[in-house]
Amino acid sequence: MTTAGPRVITSLTNDRIKAIRALDMRKERKETGLFVAEGTSILVTARDAGFEPTSLVYQAGAAGSPLSRSLVGWALNAGADVLEVSEVVLSKLSSKDNPQAMLGVFRQRWIDLPEHVGNDDCWLALEEVRDPGNLGTIIRTVDAVGAKGIILVGNSCDPYSREAVRATMGSVFAVPMVRASREAFLQWRSKWRGDVVGTHLDAQEDFRRAAYKGPALLVMGSEGPGLSDSLTRACSRLVKIPMAGKLDSLNLAVATALTLYQIRGGALKI
Ligand SMILES: C[S@@+](CC[C@H](N)C(=O)[O-])C[C@H]1O[C@@H](n2cnc3c(N)ncnc32)[C@H](O)[C@@H]1O
Repeated sequence: MTTAGPRVITSLTNDRIKAIRALDMRKERKETGLFVAEGTSILVTARDAGFEPTSLVYQAGAAGSPLSRSLVGWALNAGADVLEVSEVVLSKLSSKDNPQAMLGVFRQRWIDLPEHVGNDDCWLALEEVRDPGNLGTIIRTVDAVGAKGIILVGNSCDPYSREAVRATMGSVFAVPMVRASREAFLQWRSKWRGDVVGTHLDAQEDFRRAAYKGPALLVMGSEGPGLSDSLTRACSRLVKIPMAGKLDSLNLAVATALTLYQIRGGALKI
């Protein structure tokens, strides 16, 4: 007797497909607490980090490889909704510029401002970051240097947007994230024992010369206006990354990476 395989969803008006497409909207991500991650390698990172999908979608015929089969098995074990879809449906669910044959839907993870911080710990605070590509790149760098997590201060772009998640290359599943109002952040910061290092274009101190006292809290300004006055005043020291050309500033993700490596360099045993 032959067993029927899973039914392939071909309709874009299928309710489950519509619900996943709706996660492209920030409002929907906020209300459901869900997000989409695309591609088998990001899904493997999610699995290794202990995340479980609520849904897994793959293109009909694309679950033939051992890796894809193991991801389908992982999703089924987690009780996820596993959907086999037509190429047309998958093309509407996946990103236009980098379509993938498999994607997963996951619950977002947010934590509170940390109460216990070790002397060697490093945290990063980003004030009103606007560009999801920058944010994703920064999440990836925070993962690379072994910093403890990111505090998004004020109105930030969404780390769980498709663009940000893609730029993290999977680090979105590894880096703890906190949302805090400016007031809550400033109050929490007042108990910080180590250096609060602000990067500022008007600073005098070269970021390569500063000897940072741990635990280090690095504070970066927004892409447009830079660091606000209130956050600048909250820093125990301000550093500048020297620039030889006539440019105004470095890209936020680049400036963050340089400074994080400077702060964390000695601690990286790799
Ligand atoms: C694109 S810059 C913002 C430029 C903005 N016009 C300003 O006046 O700060 C984003 C953030 O990256 C950091 N940054 C960029 N270039 C820097 C540099 N050369 N020295 C120190 N911080 C820098 C600062 O934290 C800055 O707020």
